[in-house]
Amino acid sequence: MTTTYPTSTPPAKSYNLDDWRSGYRSQSQEYSYWISDIDGTIPPDLEGTLFRNGPGLLDVAGHPVKHPFDGDGLISSVAFQNGRAYFRNRYVRTAGYVAEQQAQKPLYRGVFGTQKPGGPLANAFDLTLKNIANTHIIYWADRLLALWEAAKPHRLDPATLDTLGLDDLNGLIASGGSFTAHPKIDPGHHGQPRLVGFSVKPGLSSKITLYELDAEGQVVIQHSHSVPGFAFLHDFAITPNYAIFFQNPVSFGPLPYLLGFKGAAECISFNPKQPTKILVIPRNGKDPMQVIDTNPCFVFHHANAFEQDGQLVIDSVCYDRFPSLEGSQDYLTVDFDRLPPGQLWRFRVDLATATARAETLVSRCVEFPALHPDQVGRPYRYLFIGAAHAAQGNAPLQALLKLDSQTGQTDVWSAAPRGFMGEPLFVPRPQATSEDDGWVMVLMYDGDRRCSDVVILDGQAITAGPIARLKLSHHVPYGLHGSFVPQYFGPTLD
Ligand SMILES: [Fe+2]
Repeated sequence: MTTTYPTSTPPAKSYNLDDWRSGYRSQSQEYSYWISDIDGTIPPDLEGTLFRNGPGLLDVAGHPVKHPFDGDGLISSVAFQNGRAYFRNRYVRTAGYVAEQQAQKPLYRGVFGTQKPGGPLANAFDLTLKNIANTHIIYWADRLLALWEAAKPHRLDPATLDTLGLDDLNGLIASGGSFTAHPKIDPGHHGQPRLVGFSVKPGLSSKITLYELDAEGQVVIQHSHSVPGFAFLHDFAITPNYAIFFQNPVSFGPLPYLLGFKGAAECISFNPKQPTKILVIPRNGKDPMQVIDTNPCFVFHHANAFEQDGQLVIDSVCYDRFPSLEGSQDYLTVDFDRLPPGQLWRFRVDLATATARAETLVSRCVEFPALHPDQVGRPYRYLFIGAAHAAQGNAPLQALLKLDSQTGQTDVWSAAPRGFMGEPLFVPRPQATSEDDGWVMVLMYDGDRRCSDVVILDGQAITAGPIARLKLSHHVPYGLHGSFVPQYFGPTLD
């Protein structure tokens, strides 16, 4: 039997909201095991450890968080060697996590709107931050660090994922200070790799401090800059000579936060008539910052930046407004159609004339960009990024998109209707000679099994689908960011 629909019928969605929601169940268990349920074959020359971070608890003792970004940081690791893989997950034992698990009730407010029980009276004027360590995890100078942008990193044991305590980066971060959740690894600053990071103190005037650490973790450059107005700076981009920030046109009205009605991030409002300001800070710490206006947009993540023919080129995931959940809406009942999609835009900045122009590189809904680690801050060709299944509109990420920025060609592998994409990472193949010769690794969620998969694709043939799908025996709630390191941190092989 053939069914015909009137032309006004909207196209069927590529996803089922129940499937999507089921990826946001708390995962209270901590596991460690050899992964044995595998479709395909793990490449035998793939060696190293994938670390992922993200909110693992979507409730505290039955009290749901208002937004996933308020969930406690759960670290997962997958260690690869000789075609085998070992999985482990552990909560970061932050002071707040330990206290709330002992008390079996929420003791803290969340930045994204989670409140303590008891209404506004119980929350008013409590401005204590719970360092939830849930955003990113990096390995630098023999330290594995779980990051959350409003407080200090937590240091973890890379083999056991045990929490070793707060880490102030060799005294760099003062008491009460913070460190970005999005530091960049410059692959070769005058031949030596560097970790470039920042902290920001937002206010009526915002202070940005830039830090550069050498391979031993010692600070080699540190300088501060003031910018007028409130600055919400989640990410930045680097080139060999510049650090680049996008100051989104937002303002902060903290009264509902102070009075206990809203979280701090719910007090941010977008000003569509004001430009986004591109802040270009010379990394040498000597030359002055330049500020260049561009189209109003909201940016969480930058894909990459580079210097070319006297211009700065910056590729960023842009939203046409702040993608807030508005009011008291529950994130689990979100209407994706009402939120703006992220799109990949390219900005060309001419420093001599202090002008910028923007063009769209990818109009499909995308988030979580990744590229070859040696191309960070350099001209690059290939970008891998999470994408919606459909070419238009806003939707959960269910696909992986590869952009060839030289030709404009895009390749897509979709896991719709039951699969949901996380942040991809690109892992170069040993002795590779081409920029896309390597593996794309993603921790995905399978709405059919209600479990997560570690998926490995060939970077040169993503449309062929996974070369290996490692089926975990449980789910890992949707995560945020992670790193792949060439060191193997799994158990000793028999
Ligand atoms: Fe991020």
